Amino acid sequence: MPDASADLTSMPGSAISAVIVLAAGAGTRMKSTRPKVLHELAGKPMLWHALHSAAGLAPSRLVAVLGHGRDQVGQFLSDSADLPPVVVAVQDQQLGTGHACACALAATGELTGTVLVTYGDVPLLQTSTLTALADEHASSGNAVTILTAQLTDPTGYGRILRDPAGELTGIVEQKDADAEQRSIQEVNSGVYAFDGAVLTDALGRLTDANAAGERYLTDVVGIARSDGRRVGSVVADDAVETEGINDRVQLAELARVLNARLVRKAQLAGVTVHDPATTWIHADVTIGPDTEILPGTSLQAGTTIGSGCSIGPDTTLIACAVADGASVVRSHCHGATIGARASVGPFSYLRPDAVLEAGSKAGAFVEIKKSTVGTGSKVPHLSYIGDTTIGAGTNIGAGTITANYDGDRKFATAIGDDVFVGSNATLIAPVSVHDGGYVAAGSTITADVQPGDLGVARGRQRTVPGWVLRRKPDSAAAKSAQSALSQRESIGALDESSDEQVHTESPRGQDTTDQPAGDPPSRSTTASA
Ligand code: UD1
Ligand code: CA
Repeated sequence: MPDASADLTSMPGSAISAVIVLAAGAGTRMKSTRPKVLHELAGKPMLWHALHSAAGLAPSRLVAVLGHGRDQVGQFLSDSADLPPVVVAVQDQQLGTGHACACALAATGELTGTVLVTYGDVPLLQTSTLTALADEHASSGNAVTILTAQLTDPTGYGRILRDPAGELTGIVEQKDADAEQRSIQEVNSGVYAFDGAVLTDALGRLTDANAAGERYLTDVVGIARSDGRRVGSVVADDAVETEGINDRVQLAELARVLNARLVRKAQLAGVTVHDPATTWIHADVTIGPDTEILPGTSLQAGTTIGSGCSIGPDTTLIACAVADGASVVRSHCHGATIGARASVGPFSYLRPDAVLEAGSKAGAFVEIKKSTVGTGSKVPHLSYIGDTTIGAGTNIGAGTITANYDGDRKFATAIGDDVFVGSNATLIAPVSVHDGGYVAAGSTITADVQPGDLGVARGRQRTVPGWVLRRKPDSAAAKSAQSALSQRESIGALDESSDEQVHTESPRGQDTTDQPAGDPPSRSTTASA
């Protein structure tokens, strides 16, 4: 669990003694077995966003008040290596926001200096806004400074009360407000900066004499005022930053706003995003400059992308590392490492521990799991490669399958450098094809192929001459065959040595090699293009 004495002294000169993040509420409107604050936006729980923004202020203490689902939430906090240590305060019963703050102080001990309070279900609040609040608080000498927002529909929020001179005099909750107060559009965001001593004192004087029967944190404002202390406010530049999440509709709305922020950040850092509306970038994703993101692309938690890459369209990368100059087209990749200038897709499925080394390729309809494809090697079409290492400069023919599972256990396949595996081969693991080895198309390989050898394991072709003409004499096939045969006869009669052979197959590119020697009756190429 987080260390209660954690002091972020690595940030010297920190002016904020604590940020208290309230997160004990039930969140019943989420209709979920998961605690509300663990529901995610941009790949991180809303509480993570709240704490991350607070941590940006480098407070001496970061405190989370937990109640409902505190075991799960506490576990999340202790597992989160990307957050500073968090002091966990427990509020067993949700007796109000004031009571929740009192629980925080009980966990930290006396807090002097500036104490900020925020909510765990307000994920869009930015460090810059908290800094503006803290700066105003410090320069004005206020005992309490409130972050307020102007809303066209203030329903449900506490309203900001001001005297005729515009001085803030208090906050009245919706439930306690009269009709005139309810028409006020300036609301309490629930984010405050307090003088720690004033807060401590006022929390001890709160009562639950209100419509909700709760101890309201908002009453600290009135108490401070009646003690003759200064109370002020800062209006949020963008009210959306202060919005809380209560249900999944709001979760999706704020997720979209947060995503727009993350897309914009990437664009300003040199990433071309063709369609911000259909591009999803999680909070911790990094993307290098001159990378291009095509529509329908989702870049999820733990993904890093280098520069000069092309990703998408319609691609999902989860916890993937993509190096410079790589391209991924219409593919789903999870836990994969994609090397420099490697190419993936269209329609590839890369699973955990798939490693494509520099310049390698996983082409169309290829699934790769826990396997390495070496430098410049290619798996261009319709393959399953699992528990396999492939060396450099190797070509795996279309439809090749590594059979790695016998129903009980998984076995490894080793394929060396400059190996050529013909189309539709099945390599039954454990098995090795050593450097420079060849495998004939259509083979089922169960024994190792030594360096430079050709493995052939398939039935030989038997041709039955004239079968169609005899068995299906009136068929279209028979007619075509008949006319082809008579054409051959007449050509043969005209010029036997002519070049005009009826069948010629053009060479089809660099992946296609000549047939390997040693298997005379049929060819042994890949279908590679
Ligand atoms: C509170 C404010 C209101 C403000 C609104 C902004 C009070 C009395 N009212 O109202 O002026 O406009 O926030 O959203 O503070 N929580 C706890 N323990 C509790 C009660 C609440 O941890 O006992 C946490 C909740 O988990 C939530 C936050 O505090 O994150 C706010 O609680 P909520 O019940 O939503 O407060 P509101 O009534 O909306
Ligand atoms: Ca609320």
